[in-house]
Amino acid sequence: MSKRAIVTGVTGQDGSYLVELLLQKDYEVIGVTRRLSTPNMQRIQHLRDRIQLRSADLLDQASLLDLVADVRPHEVYNLAAMSFVPASWEQPLLTGEFNAQGVTRLFEAIRRVDTSIRVYQASSSEMFGKVRATPQTEETPFHPRSPYGVSKVFAHYMTVNYRESYDLFAVSGILFNHESPRRGLEFVTRKVTDGVARIKLGLGKRLSLGNLNACRDWGFAGDYVRAMWAMLQQDSPNDYVVATGVSSSVEELVQIAFGHVGLDWQDYVDTDPNLLRPAEVDHLIGDASKARAQLGWQPTVDFKGLITMMVDADLHRLQCEPLATDNEPV
Ligand code: NAP
Ligand code: GDD
Repeated sequence: MSKRAIVTGVTGQDGSYLVELLLQKDYEVIGVTRRLSTPNMQRIQHLRDRIQLRSADLLDQASLLDLVADVRPHEVYNLAAMSFVPASWEQPLLTGEFNAQGVTRLFEAIRRVDTSIRVYQASSSEMFGKVRATPQTEETPFHPRSPYGVSKVFAHYMTVNYRESYDLFAVSGILFNHESPRRGLEFVTRKVTDGVARIKLGLGKRLSLGNLNACRDWGFAGDYVRAMWAMLQQDSPNDYVVATGVSSSVEELVQIAFGHVGLDWQDYVDTDPNLLRPAEVDHLIGDASKARAQLGWQPTVDFKGLITMMVDADLHRLQCEPLATDNEPV
């Protein structure tokens, strides 16, 4: 009998890669969408006839309860969130409603329907923030630096609490930044690769960025969803850091991206103080030894391979569709 999984955030970057993985493994997949005035299905268009879509919202307890009660899944992957850090300063309360209380609502729905359902919570390296130790592991204390980071710490500890209080198989995947050609255009990697492709094709002239010194441990989203799945297949629930163990700066990112198309970044990049954050996370680097040892997980794409893959995908997309403004599906 095939397993049944609910994936919240199915229209997002990670949702689309996770659904592909689950379908390869013969899962019956139920993707959760929320009502929008304009449908946002670009990333899962190629999967639409192979999954069911159900409407529910992290803000609405009844919709989550109905969802879990009707579907009776074996596994739930909670990827839905307000995921853009700068927006969390503009809307801190809404960020908390989605990312913190929204997770509590989902856990409440699950525990009321069936405590044997296994749950993955999408936690984040943003929880480490102003880092207390380098590299960061599952034991590193948190010091979040944005309302987004704070909301994810709340959800992390809710995951631990539902595990300890109700014996739920609930895991927190502490994932470091992961990117792909399906990344939202507002995140720095995709902003750069899209900007480089536009400049190369004569569709843009310059690129404005914020802090070039920030460092992140960047991996490929397609690799990271394998770790999510593996966490729910273990004998017991545990939390895991997922990272490449290599950290690069935003400046290195622009060097690689412009260099890939034969341009010198210094001729095209401006820095804009308006793009600096009220509090920055300066340097993240993860130690995924536990995931490597217990899940048998390892990344397959390095930083340069990731950025060149994204530049090539943006060049291709813009050559096919020069007026494109939104995400390319596959
Ligand atoms: P993403 O591309 O921004 O996708 C977010 C998803 O959440 C979208 O499908 C969005 O739906 C949905 N969503 C937002 N608010 C919702 C609500 N109130 N009810 C139901 N659905 C809602 O994010 P991602 O990069 O795939 O990340 C997936 C998860 O991993 C997020 O929780 C993120 O915080 C976390 N995370 C990401 C990274 C990373 O580097 N990518 C690292 C660590 C953790 P719409 O399409 O309707 O907006
Ligand atoms: N977005 C953006 N735009 N970031 C910029 C820019 C710019 O123009 N210029 C410099 N940066 C710097 C930011 O200040 C930050 O230090 C770094 O680039 C990465 O920014 P983002 O790509 O927006 O990602 P993030 O690290 O804030 O958050 C992402 O990763 C988290 C995991 O650590 C998101 O995916 C979160 O949802 C995720 O939890």
